[in-house]
Amino acid sequence: MYTQAMDTLGKDAEDRKPVRSAEQAMLEARFDARIDDGAFIEAKDWMPDHYRKTLVRQISQHAHSEIVGMLPEGNWISRAPTLKRKAILLAKVQDEGGHGLYLYAAAETLGTSRDEMLYALHTGKAKYSSIFNYPTLTWADVGAIGWLVDGAAIMNQVPICRCSYAPYARAMVRICREESFHQRQGFESLLTMMQHGTEAQKAMVQDAVDRWWWPSVMMFGPPDDQSPNSAQSMRWGIKRISNDELRQKFVDAAVEQAKVLGVTLPDPDLKWNEERQHHDFGAIDWDEFWNVIAGNGPCNRERIAARVKAWDDGAWVREAALAHAEKQQQRFKEAA
Ligand code: 3HC
Repeated sequence: MYTQAMDTLGKDAEDRKPVRSAEQAMLEARFDARIDDGAFIEAKDWMPDHYRKTLVRQISQHAHSEIVGMLPEGNWISRAPTLKRKAILLAKVQDEGGHGLYLYAAAETLGTSRDEMLYALHTGKAKYSSIFNYPTLTWADVGAIGWLVDGAAIMNQVPICRCSYAPYARAMVRICREESFHQRQGFESLLTMMQHGTEAQKAMVQDAVDRWWWPSVMMFGPPDDQSPNSAQSMRWGIKRISNDELRQKFVDAAVEQAKVLGVTLPDPDLKWNEERQHHDFGAIDWDEFWNVIAGNGPCNRERIAARVKAWDDGAWVREAALAHAEKQQQRFKEAA
């Protein structure tokens, strides 16, 4: 309809511009109305370019976080203290790999390729969660990651099950179920050490909590007033709850869990605020956060080097799979 109307304006390209704008405006208005109605957007639906780009950015970063997140814990599979802990850790690390794959697949529905996303990761152009640039120094770190890091991840990810982009929301439903198991196994592992362990083991748990607490609090991203993407992502229903609100929910939950564990959270300013009905907490070291994101955390280089090596070492598998697919296609053609 708009094309016909604009045809009357003339044939040169400049004249046709407003037609596209009007059509664009109409499509955007329809899209906004669908978002306001709480509808889910599917891959085949029209969407604004910026919505698509925002999703590719967030989903690919999320996928990379899952994949890089396998490294700090994977490091402990061969050193798990018992067969039971080893089996649990193996399952958890495999789950993280699976989450990465669902998420890459969700991002691919937006028209980006897995190769492009991985190239961005390997060349340092793509971000992944700051948390995975910290080292796992003792066995208690594995429990602390489960309790705090997976705990923070669930807090952030449960609202994404209602993300307006349906393929991402669907992937998150399964991911969150598995993350919940991850959080519990970490908590249970720490609880066992705190209740039945030696004094040295209890001290090891406290030390792990001391090191993982602040990086976990930072995981939720910059404060709302310094978060460049939040306003638009909230408007589009990609993010449902803001960085600061999620951080507060996490702190409130963790304080109670720390009491059960019998550990101290390393923040002297942490205290209940009756008026706010939330815990106040100390100042976050945002310089540390931005520094880690800029590539200068304790393990950034090691993590990327490990991913690049895995990619290079896996070249023969990709080549073999391609050769097999080509052969099969050829056989299929010959049989047809
Ligand atoms: N680590 C690295 N970068 C971060 C970050 C973090 N913890 N928090 C924020 N950032 C980056 C953002 O990506 C953004 O950079 P960009 O514009 O170049 O992409 C910049 O800092 C500003 O932050 P914003 O708040 O404006 O960014 P977002 O609106 O995208 O919010 C987010 C950040 C809350 C992490 C959001 O992207 C999100 O919810 N992502 C999905 C969940 C996710 O990726 N979680 C990562 C952990 S997954 C995990 O932990 C695995 C589990 O198995 C443990």
